[in-house]
Amino acid sequence: MLEIAPIRAEGLPDAVTIYEVGPRDGLQNESAIVPVEVKAEFIARLAAAGLRTIEATSFVHPEWVPQLADAAELLEVLERAPGVRYPVLVPNERGLERALEAEITDIAVFASATESFARRNLNRTIAESLTMFAPVVGRAREAGLGVRGYVSMCFGDPWEGTVPIEQVVSVGRALLEMGCTELSLGDTIGVATPGRVVALLEGFAVAGTSVDSLAVHFHDTYGQALSNTLTALREGVTVVDASTGGLGGCPYAESATGNLATEDLVWMLNGLGISTGVNLQLLVDTSIWMADKLGKPSPSRVVQALS
Ligand code: HMG
Ligand code: MG
Repeated sequence: MLEIAPIRAEGLPDAVTIYEVGPRDGLQNESAIVPVEVKAEFIARLAAAGLRTIEATSFVHPEWVPQLADAAELLEVLERAPGVRYPVLVPNERGLERALEAEITDIAVFASATESFARRNLNRTIAESLTMFAPVVGRAREAGLGVRGYVSMCFGDPWEGTVPIEQVVSVGRALLEMGCTELSLGDTIGVATPGRVVALLEGFAVAGTSVDSLAVHFHDTYGQALSNTLTALREGVTVVDASTGGLGGCPYAESATGNLATEDLVWMLNGLGISTGVNLQLLVDTSIWMADKLGKPSPSRVVQALS
């Protein structure tokens, strides 16, 4: 593999934690059902490549996301590597019960900053969805689980346009007050640009939220995910969501495409001398293998360049 000597740049962290969402966000948008053994091997390969947090699946309503209806079966066959966490999405108490039976250690609830997407994705108003999450977060924390809270549509929404920063901060703060241990700020349809990323992070800082509790989750629809991520790193964020091969999207958000590709992120961080613990070649090999299973090439530029 071509290697270029790294050069550090000022104002960036020494290490970044990659929160891998490929098996969940990546696959949830694929209409052809991927066999459970392929999912398990995908996750095992990601762990072998050095990823330490791999969002494995969702315990949502099986009819809402048929691709992930096999969540229980997947966790049953998945061989868990030491030191790796496998969070799962959980929308409600029914989902939590199913997840607890599968012996998970971390969950994520997922709110929306806009009413339009809350209705489409959760069949609830924002307020109703927060009421639905409260007992899930409370029970999960009592059970000793880590609980991430996502906020979707943090920058723009296909039905409502620009999303006011106060609206995002208000939903995010509600999730933290409920007991979420980390907040992931989602650009669900990939429309954010760096100025807006700074403004949102400042909005949280002004409201008293420490940047240590924030992660960023950029989809790459408009090709902005990497520049937005670099901007967030400069603002002090050190947890970045990414999807191996750039798979992804949300079946309930018009025009959402893949997440920031993990390979594109790792290439940039390697070049900056920022440690991630990830072996890029093993990730690229995994994406090539997965592209073959899905019958379509990875959209990641780094995967294409290194293939
Ligand atoms: P609902 O239809 O309002 O459900 O859906 P309900 O509460 O009225 O229940 C109806 C029936 O479903 C009941 O059964 C429940 O038991 C059952 P009945 O009593 O009629 O026989 N049910 C369930 N069964 C299994 N597992 C469950 C479950 N829940 C209810 N968990 C619901 C509400 C929240 C369930 C539904 O809207 C849903 O599942 N939504 C999930 C949509 C989704 O997964 N979207 C993609 C993930 S979010 C995302 O991708 C964004 C993110 O990446 C960040 C970003 O990019 O911004 C995270
Ligand atoms: Mg997403």
